[in-house]
Amino acid sequence: MTIRLGDVVPDFTAETTEGPIRFHEWLGDSWGVLFSHPKNFTPVCTTELGQVARLKPEFDRRHVKVIGLSVDPLDAHEKWAEDIAETQGYAPNFPLIADPDRTVSGLYDMIHPNASDTMTVRSVFVVGPDKKLKLSLTYPASAGRNFDEILRVIDSLQLTAQHAVATPANWKDGEDVIIVPSVSDEAAKEKFPGGWKTLKPYLRLVPQPGK
Ligand code: BEZ
Repeated sequence: MTIRLGDVVPDFTAETTEGPIRFHEWLGDSWGVLFSHPKNFTPVCTTELGQVARLKPEFDRRHVKVIGLSVDPLDAHEKWAEDIAETQGYAPNFPLIADPDRTVSGLYDMIHPNASDTMTVRSVFVVGPDKKLKLSLTYPASAGRNFDEILRVIDSLQLTAQHAVATPANWKDGEDVIIVPSVSDEAAKEKFPGGWKTLKPYLRLVPQPGK
């Protein structure tokens, strides 16, 4: 099933390393990141899970719950966690879904048969508190993801959710943002009383709200 931006993401029940969950209930009012990795006891995946564990306080600070998934069974997740702690210095501190029957992988279209029949690709789904899909990424098995980039785009998504702004290329938290074109200059005067810089009528830069 293809899940598109703005869709309510599918709900499911699953076994995880932190007990059984119902996904929407587990998310509660938080933002969420659901990400798949192709296979346990593999090198790139081991580094990725260590990185996510290292960055967990950053996800927490943004009220984002993180959950991983592979088609490996629960006992393999538990055994592999020891290797992740040993080699990466961080043990998984977030739940990992065991999806050996591929129920969740199927719902989220995480198996791409022309890449592999048996393994999930490296999918990332960022879900808002309204349970709608805000961002999806698909990486091949060979390329480990940049989880700092995922935090960066969550900063952008959360800013957009609160203010009538968008973020420019390579934007980082604290830098100027863009007043969205649907806001007229008249309305912008009320929203941004400190003023803004007009480079073109459609390109107006304003200091990041709240900074
Ligand atoms: C890895 O995590 O290193 C990996 C997993 C599946 C296929 C290739 C690489």
